[in-house]
Amino acid sequence: MASREIVKNVFAVGTINWDLRYFDAIMPTPHGSSNNAYLVRGSEKTAIVDLGEPNDEADFITNLMRLDQHSLDYIICLHAEQDHSGLLPLMLEIYPMAKVVTNETCRGLLFEMHNLEGYEERFITIANGETLSLGDKTLKFYLAPWIHWPDTMFVEIVEDRVLFTSDFFGAHYASETLFQDDNSPDYLEAAKRYYSALMMPFRASVVKYIDLVKKLNPEYIGPAHGPVLRMPTEIIDLYADWASDKPKNKVVIGYVSMHGNTKQMVNFLVDDLLQRGVPVNQYNLLDTDTGVFGSAIVDAATIILATPTVLHGPHPAVVNASYLIRTLRPKAKYVGIIGSFGWESNAVPYLQDMMSTLGAENLNSVYIKGIPDEETIKNLHVLAETVAELHQTL
Ligand code: FEO
Repeated sequence: MASREIVKNVFAVGTINWDLRYFDAIMPTPHGSSNNAYLVRGSEKTAIVDLGEPNDEADFITNLMRLDQHSLDYIICLHAEQDHSGLLPLMLEIYPMAKVVTNETCRGLLFEMHNLEGYEERFITIANGETLSLGDKTLKFYLAPWIHWPDTMFVEIVEDRVLFTSDFFGAHYASETLFQDDNSPDYLEAAKRYYSALMMPFRASVVKYIDLVKKLNPEYIGPAHGPVLRMPTEIIDLYADWASDKPKNKVVIGYVSMHGNTKQMVNFLVDDLLQRGVPVNQYNLLDTDTGVFGSAIVDAATIILATPTVLHGPHPAVVNASYLIRTLRPKAKYVGIIGSFGWESNAVPYLQDMMSTLGAENLNSVYIKGIPDEETIKNLHVLAETVAELHQTL
């Protein structure tokens, strides 16, 4: 990734990883990603906003050397997670005059995650609303905890209307362009799967900080991952929609079928819902990437898990999906369970408990012994009818 100028004397100097396929060893990243860092040159002082991780070292230092950046006054740490702070010990060593500027929570986390003994005097702790002058550019800090860690904050270059938002508004999306101007389907897909994994569990905070960003009205948003957003109203509106309490008239069914019984039930339920005009998407959890399923549940009003039985419980892939739902906490209002078992199963109470963090209403489950029969079809018909009626009230 080359060093590229966003506005006069503000450069993107982070690194891009085209081949990354899993972020944090958990999140599928089919579009790659980037660890962004930004160099801000004022008339008197120079600061860098965020860094990168140890694997980024060669590219990152190369970018700074391309700009002949042989000294730094400030290293701004917006968030302590290692993808942004991993190079901090190295930077403190090679830029001996640089002070680290961060908030109290982030400072504590940085000392816990890195060996920074002896560097205590080089930290400056700032509070919400404080400013730091670089001469003709002023940095203003906004604490924004819980999007998605307790330490996160934004920094604004006041004169340039550039806002650096850490992970907020990011995307795991390796882009050949510095700016994301066209909001291509691939980019929007990447942005939504990123939102679902990082931001959805903190929807209340997301709503709060969308309001702050709207008030600041930046011309550019520089997130910690993915392209820089120029005139970013579309992505701000999308975040507002995703984070709102109002789900869409949509059903998501995640399923696994071992011998075809559960799949027959899914087929019937999907057909019936479609006949009733309720949009529904089904995902075979054996071969659906968790980012796709995570994106699907962002705005669905109803989530249904369909599982066969493995020994006494649900299929492991369905357990994994229920854990994803439990952790990401989408805004679904209704959850349901269908499937089949051989001799016994605890799948229904297990999955209901896993999804209980949503506070959603449990629909009547249709969990049968053996193959679907007329009674099963009737109960699935009632389930579809119930969902259609409930969705009328959204
Ligand atoms: Fe991109 Fe929360 O680190």
